[in-house]
Amino acid sequence: MTSENDSARAVQVDDLSVDLGGRLVLRGIDLRIRQGEVVAVLGTNGSGKSTLIKTVVGLLPAARGEVRLFGTPVPRFREWRRVGYVPQRITAAGGVPATVYEVVSSGLLSKRRMFAPLGAAGKQAIEDALEVVDMADRRKDAVAELSGGQQQRVLIARALVSDPELLILDEPTAGVDLASQQIFADAIRERVAGGTTVVMVSHDLGPMDALIDRSVVMRRGRIVYDGPPHASQTHAHVHHSHTDDDPGWLTS
Ligand SMILES: Nc1ncnc2c1ncn2[C@@H]1O[C@H](COP(=O)(O)OP(=O)(O)OP(=O)(O)O)[C@@H](O)[C@H]1O
Ligand SMILES: [Mg+2]
Repeated sequence: MTSENDSARAVQVDDLSVDLGGRLVLRGIDLRIRQGEVVAVLGTNGSGKSTLIKTVVGLLPAARGEVRLFGTPVPRFREWRRVGYVPQRITAAGGVPATVYEVVSSGLLSKRRMFAPLGAAGKQAIEDALEVVDMADRRKDAVAELSGGQQQRVLIARALVSDPELLILDEPTAGVDLASQQIFADAIRERVAGGTTVVMVSHDLGPMDALIDRSVVMRRGRIVYDGPPHASQTHAHVHHSHTDDDPGWLTS
């Protein structure tokens, strides 16, 4: 191994397997993401992208192997303020009414300090994040009454509001119009210039494409390509690696 410090890696996944409902949905995943990298996670529906992302942010347990964030194993990781996460879809939150402002402000609360009061800096951060996604005039509206694309923009604002060092985005711009995607890509570009690490699942990178340093392609719960972004498409479809002893994914 190199002399690189463990904590210089934003994300480190070692031999990760994840079991959902008795099925191994992820198998033997190894992934290291350095601070400042911008990584796209690609792959067909059901290949395990969201499962990987959810395991990285501690929402799903590992059946085997380990995930570390900034050098700390996820079960012991407490600095959630350093991490921003946009889930693939807004969760049907059991009918709890929440306004745009409340959802965005929840991005400032770490998992351990749910009721910490908001200071002036926090309020300004919320205003800035609402501006980025052009939802400032909807702040008092119930999220449930927004369109799908508008809800997605609220989730993006929630992930950006704490100015995290690591942004983990699961199809953040699915259903978001092109103009908003462009604004989002500009916001991400600024943060990347400031050193933010980005891991983004996407089927259509759109204006984000130019920001990607590296792509990881998944198929049937495994990583089948990890390398420069513009080779990923071809490699993903015709992959001749001899390291995979399960040829099943070749036929899917
Ligand atoms: N709660 C669950 N119980 C059992 N299997 C699950 C569960 N959630 C997901 N799966 C299965 O895990 C596999 C991977 O799902 P995942 O959501 O990670 O795929 P994905 O790559 O994100 O797909 P998409 O592009 O559609 O978002 C799928 O076969 C799915 O059916
Ligand atoms: Mg998914």
